[in-house]
Amino acid sequence: MGVINLPKLIFLGVLASWAVAEWCYNEKSCEPDTWSRLGFCGGNRQSPLDINESAVVRNSSLGSFQFTGYDNATLLLSIKNLGHTVEVALDDGVSISGGGLNTEYSAIAFHFHWGNGTSSPGSEHRLSGKQFPMEMHIVHTINKLNLSESRKNSTGIAVLAFFINVAENTSFSSNLSTLSNLLQQVSTAGLLVPLNATISINSLLGQVDRTSYYRYLGSLTTPTCDEAVIWTVFKNPILVPASVINTFPEQLYFNGSDELQMLANNFRPLQKIGSRLVHSSMSATPTAIVSTTKHTTVSITNHTPSSIHTKQILIPSTVLAIMCFLYTEASLTC
Ligand SMILES: *[C@@H]1O[C@H](CO)[C@@H](O)[C@H](O)[C@H]1NC(C)=O
Ligand SMILES: *[C@@H]1O[C@H](CO)[C@@H](O)[C@H](O)[C@H]1NC(C)=O
Ligand SMILES: *[C@@H]1O[C@H](CO)[C@@H](O)[C@H](O)[C@H]1NC(C)=O
Ligand SMILES: *[C@@H]1O[C@H](CO)[C@@H](O)[C@H](O)[C@H]1NC(C)=O
Ligand SMILES: *[C@@H]1O[C@H](CO)[C@@H](O)[C@H](O)[C@H]1NC(C)=O
Ligand SMILES: *[C@@H]1O[C@H](CO)[C@@H](O)[C@H](O)[C@H]1NC(C)=O
Ligand SMILES: *[C@@H]1O[C@H](CO)[C@@H](O)[C@H](O)[C@H]1NC(C)=O
Ligand SMILES: *[C@@H]1O[C@H](CO)[C@@H](O)[C@H](O)[C@H]1NC(C)=O
Ligand SMILES: *[C@@H]1O[C@H](CO)[C@@H](O)[C@H](O)[C@H]1NC(C)=O
Ligand SMILES: *[C@@H]1O[C@H](CO)[C@@H](O)[C@H](O)[C@H]1NC(C)=O
Repeated sequence: MGVINLPKLIFLGVLASWAVAEWCYNEKSCEPDTWSRLGFCGGNRQSPLDINESAVVRNSSLGSFQFTGYDNATLLLSIKNLGHTVEVALDDGVSISGGGLNTEYSAIAFHFHWGNGTSSPGSEHRLSGKQFPMEMHIVHTINKLNLSESRKNSTGIAVLAFFINVAENTSFSSNLSTLSNLLQQVSTAGLLVPLNATISINSLLGQVDRTSYYRYLGSLTTPTCDEAVIWTVFKNPILVPASVINTFPEQLYFNGSDELQMLANNFRPLQKIGSRLVHSSMSATPTAIVSTTKHTTVSITNHTPSSIHTKQILIPSTVLAIMCFLYTEASLTC
């Protein structure tokens, strides 16, 4: 209990120092615009995306997740400054399944992206153009592979992304404030603090509805941007006090070669969606939208009732035809 998993920490440390020499967020010579020369960063299945909530495809396969170890505080080992983010390393025993995933994925770590406090947002993904103050990524791999093995498989990594926003009143319940109080102890690259079994992942996520989410296939958002990620972006943000969001840039520094630079705006710019579709869980999207109509039409002509949502079967075809006409008039696909 609470014992540090040394091989895992060393592995993450090696990854970090290898990476920071090649790329950065804040200097002309290595900023995101230059990353296309690295690995897969110039590919066409890149992340993050701006998720257009009017264009998502509802998918009845995207049901609830099963979370294992998310309530267990002994599995969060330590928090470390990697020079471009802070990362919490996880012990074995944290995993997810369900949620439309074909198999179980095991968590290895989570980290954050942010802007410059509450005045300048820094989430990587956006929802219908809205950028949130921060974003948390919980990184899971297939078959308990390490990151370097899992990134070779096009569905080798499953990342759960949670937006973080300012609580509009004081009735928030995330323990991110507990974590943010430790940041001054990891202000520069390489520093690490053991967590001593004080925080569970559930206590960080608070009350977020984990059945409302968006799903698409993308990449890691840092070099080498491997196109190996099944993304799950939750619709509702974790709510925290403004002070938590402000603490990240105030207390942390980049791994700069010369003088200390505040660790701020560590988010990758938006990438092109191309021909990809973003799917949504049923509860993430109101029923009366384009993609429902589209799906029902396809399902009926294909005679595959097993994939039709019960409510949709009851819509008479004349109503469907009128709906299709109206949607076509609005220049949307039907
Ligand atoms: C979002 O999707 C809707 C429906 O397809 C479309 O009309 C709209 O132009 C899209 N918005 C953006 C910003 O692409
Ligand atoms: C938490 O994880 C530890 C280490 O795997 C395990 O021994 C313990 O039983 C778990 N606790 C709960 C409540 O699941
Ligand atoms: C719905 O999501 C599942 C799981 O990701 C996927 O296998 C399936 O192809 C999707 N359905 C449609 C109609 O795209
Ligand atoms: C962040 O904001 C503070 C003031 O709120 C400012 O002093 C600082 O220069 C900003 N940093 C960056 C990197 O924009
Ligand atoms: C990742 O796993 C592979 C296969 O088990 C192993 O050969 C490799 O050394 C591991 N890489 C790291 C960085 O731990
Ligand atoms: C990716 O992983 C899945 C599940 O383990 C496996 O079925 C598939 O063959 C792998 N693909 C590649 C290209 O390794
Ligand atoms: C504060 O939050 C509580 C619980 O979420 C909610 O019931 C209440 O309406 C909120 N008050 C304001 C002023 O937003
Ligand atoms: C910081 O960056 C330098 C290169 O700029 C690298 O040699 C060093 O290992 C990095 N330190 C950490 C802790 O990442
Ligand atoms: C965990 O224990 C170590 C050693 O006693 C201490 O240095 C560290 O600050 C503790 N971590 C937390 C989060 O309290
Ligand atoms: C936050 O962590 C503390 C221990 O540091 C714990 O007592 C408390 O219950 C946690 N809060 C939540 C909301 O889980």
